[in-house]
Amino acid sequence: MTSQAKILNLVNRPTPRRMDYVFDDSIPMDWFGGSPFKSMLLTALSATFPEGERFFVDSVRHYQKHVNPDLAKQVSGFIGQEAHHGREHTAFNEFMGRKGLPMAEIDAFVKKGLTFMRGKLSPERQLAMTCALEHFTAVLAELALENPEFFAPMDDRVKALWYWHAIEESEHKAVAFDVFQEQVGSYWIRSSQMVINTVEFAFFSSYHTYQLLKARGIQRDWKMHREGLKELFVKPGWLRKMGKAYLSYYKPSFHPWQRDTTAAMNHWKAVYGIE
Ligand SMILES: [Fe+2]
Ligand SMILES: [Fe+2]
Repeated sequence: MTSQAKILNLVNRPTPRRMDYVFDDSIPMDWFGGSPFKSMLLTALSATFPEGERFFVDSVRHYQKHVNPDLAKQVSGFIGQEAHHGREHTAFNEFMGRKGLPMAEIDAFVKKGLTFMRGKLSPERQLAMTCALEHFTAVLAELALENPEFFAPMDDRVKALWYWHAIEESEHKAVAFDVFQEQVGSYWIRSSQMVINTVEFAFFSSYHTYQLLKARGIQRDWKMHREGLKELFVKPGWLRKMGKAYLSYYKPSFHPWQRDTTAAMNHWKAVYGIE
C-alpha cells in the first residue's frame, strides 16, 4: 500500500449509521426521473443487495480473526455498514414490491445462487468475489458522488438512500481488498475472479432488469431500451466514463484508495447531514 493509500485509509474509517428511511407509497414507480429503464435497472440492483451484502459480510468475516488488529476494527465497521445497507434496501425493495414488482422472487433467486457459490467456491475465491463486487460498487459510488447530474433526476426521498449508500461504499471500499491482500494476496485469484464476476454482473443485472420490465409488460419497448443504453454508453455515457476506473483493478499494484474520493464524500455528507 502506498503512503497516500495509508493516509486515506486512516481518514475514511467505515462508520456504521442507522438511517430508518421510510418509502411512502406516493413515490412513483419510475422514481429515477420518470425513466422506466433507469428506475428498473437500479431497482434490480437494489433487489440483489440484501443477499449480496450478506455474502460479502460472511466472506470477510471468515478472515476477521486472522487480520491485523487495525484491519479487524475496519472489518467491524464494514460489517456494520453492510448490515444497515441490507436493512434499508429491504425497506426499499418491499416498497417496490407493494407496487407489484417481483422483488421477493429476485431476492429468492439471488439467495439460491449465492448458496450455490458458498458451496462451490473456496474462501479465497469468495473473498475475491467480494473484492470484485465491492470494486463495482466503489466505481458506481464514485460516478454518483463526482457527477451530481447523474442522480439529479431522482425523487428526493429515494435519492437520499442512494447517496448514503454511495458514501458508505466509498468509506469501506478498501476493507475487503486489504483483507484479501493480507490473507490471500494472489493476483491470479483476484483478477480472474474479476473477469468472471464482470460477466456475471452484466448478465444478472440485465436479466433482473428484464424481469422487472416484463412484470410491467414493457420489456419490448425498444425505444426505451435504445435511449437507456445510449445514456449509459454513448451520451453522456455514464458507464463508459467509468471504464478507466473499472480497468485499474487489473493493475497488479492496484489499491482502491488510488482513487481519492474524499472531497466528494465530504461534500455529500454535508448535504445530507451525515457525520
Ligand atoms: Fe453496501
Ligand atoms: Fe460494500
